Amino acid sequence: MRILANQGNGKITVPDLMQRKFLVANSPNKKITCLTAYDYPSARLLDEAGVDVVLVGDSIAMVALGYESTLPLTLEESLHHTKAVRRGVQRALVVADMPYGSYHGEMGEAVHNAMRFVKEAGAEAVKVEGGERRLELIAKLTEAEIPVMGHVGLTPQSVNALGGYRVQGKTPATAEQVLRDARSVEAAGAFAIVLEAMPRELAAEITLTLRIPTIGIGAGPDCDGQVLVLHDMLGLTFQEPPKFARRYANVGQAISQAVRGYCADVQGGSFPSDAESYHSNTSMKGRKPIPIAR
Ligand code: KIV
Repeated sequence: MRILANQGNGKITVPDLMQRKFLVANSPNKKITCLTAYDYPSARLLDEAGVDVVLVGDSIAMVALGYESTLPLTLEESLHHTKAVRRGVQRALVVADMPYGSYHGEMGEAVHNAMRFVKEAGAEAVKVEGGERRLELIAKLTEAEIPVMGHVGLTPQSVNALGGYRVQGKTPATAEQVLRDARSVEAAGAFAIVLEAMPRELAAEITLTLRIPTIGIGAGPDCDGQVLVLHDMLGLTFQEPPKFARRYANVGQAISQAVRGYCADVQGGSFPSDAESYHSNTSMKGRKPIPIAR
């Protein structure tokens, strides 16, 4: 039997990503690229543009569903969107974020919920937030053949406990806790870890310490990869984006302009034109009107 980490067809697998940790050290062009997607067209565009990991983030709650935080997002909503993303992706690894409440109670239920992402929605891995206190859960999921991506530092599902969306690990004591969290996630068997909103020096230290790849968001350039929320990078949000969210396009403005143009054309009578209309083969002249049933 041959054991291949890479299936040879360009498909990104969990073992591929783990190997990238060691490739990145010598070639920065091997850094892992990850973006969020929540529907079929965005997932397909990301995949075809060559992103390595498509994350169905629970940020969907705020950027696409209009909730105030990620907390109200339900398991069924997440599954629904993960299925749509799955249909759009062929090459990238599809990771589903487990929503708040779907892994915080009884362990058996958490494993069952994670399995639904794999069995019903086609996710290849799940992401859970939290460090030391997720040790047992990550180990159980890994035992159940579900690859886990960890997430430490600023964990948005802890917004109430943290008192807001704040950069984590700025003091020696809190930095030590974030480092302990990251180590626990690795020890429990996660294959990769998101480092969110922390000093770049701390993220660099965690990246050097761990054997699994780190994927940063607001954690500086020394991580093994980067992730952004798609709507932030495309300018499709309604608040000021965080300082780390570099804007690559202004899609919100492009949509507004297109819609204003459409309204003006409809009301000005230039849309649809004759060329945008269907024509009948026979003359309508002398044709009896079709009786309208009332
Ligand atoms: O939900 C999300 O988009 C995330 C990323 C910020 C990592 O968890």
